[in-house]
Amino acid sequence: MTRIVYLNGAWLPEADAKVSVFDRGFLFADAIYEVTAVIGGRLIEYAGHAARLQRSLAELAMQLPLSPEELLAVHRDIVRRNDLREGLIYLQVSRGAADRDFSYPKDAVPTVVLFTQAKPVLDNPRAKTGISVVTQPDLRWARRDIKTVQLVYPSMAKMEAARLGADDAWLVEDGFVTEATSATAHIVTRDGTLVTRELSNAILHGITRASTLEIARGAGIPVDVRPFTPEEALGAAEAFITSATSFVLPVTQIDGRPVGNGVPGPVTARLRELYIAEKLASAI
Ligand code: PDD
Repeated sequence: MTRIVYLNGAWLPEADAKVSVFDRGFLFADAIYEVTAVIGGRLIEYAGHAARLQRSLAELAMQLPLSPEELLAVHRDIVRRNDLREGLIYLQVSRGAADRDFSYPKDAVPTVVLFTQAKPVLDNPRAKTGISVVTQPDLRWARRDIKTVQLVYPSMAKMEAARLGADDAWLVEDGFVTEATSATAHIVTRDGTLVTRELSNAILHGITRASTLEIARGAGIPVDVRPFTPEEALGAAEAFITSATSFVLPVTQIDGRPVGNGVPGPVTARLRELYIAEKLASAI
């Protein structure tokens, strides 16, 4: 099936959507993105993704040529035009096309692209089995709080994880876990406390992370916001990741060794259930 994609105000069959070779997203990775889940044709956590998009734009002095109302309308329209029931919407904004120069061009017009990917999100077999991760050095740039499209290092780390027979990598810097290649990393200690790294430039400020912490607190699960080491994670009762596409997903193996008793734990299962119930109810 040919998707209909959005490119700078036009709706086009995917094969006809073309961007200039001078686009700074292509030449400099001078572009940011968001990924929003869609379930039952409705947007999950849209407000959070729209707010983080504005933050990324501001950090890079870019301006979106769409008002907040227009941006939401485009999201709704792409769901409708592609009859998307479940999957995700990928949105990218680059600074636009300009002759190659390291300085930001004065009058470039941002390139705005949206496309959909239909796939099961809710029914994830890994929720029952958990995923395996291997630790890898975090060799990304130091502004991971900006959601840029510089994703080749996360791709390398994921390929290395696959080579080692694992599903994903947890990245480690100065002895502490930063995050997964495309998700936030968390653990649950043996006394039932959710431990997650504090927000800084070292990690992406996950939308699912923020909601999960709020839900945990509301459910009486203690939350400790601090970094943790791979060793602490291995000695923890549970580990899990959060992201727009995985929601809350158990991690049952780190570097070939089991986390807790090697099966998804009750706190992770409860948070996944609560997260899904709340976010489906508030989807727009
Ligand atoms: N990735 N950390 C990184 C490095 C990420 O790329 C992501 C999301 C997250 C989780 O953020 P959120 O909960 O807002 O989705 C954390 C998306 C899903 C992606 O790149 O496909």
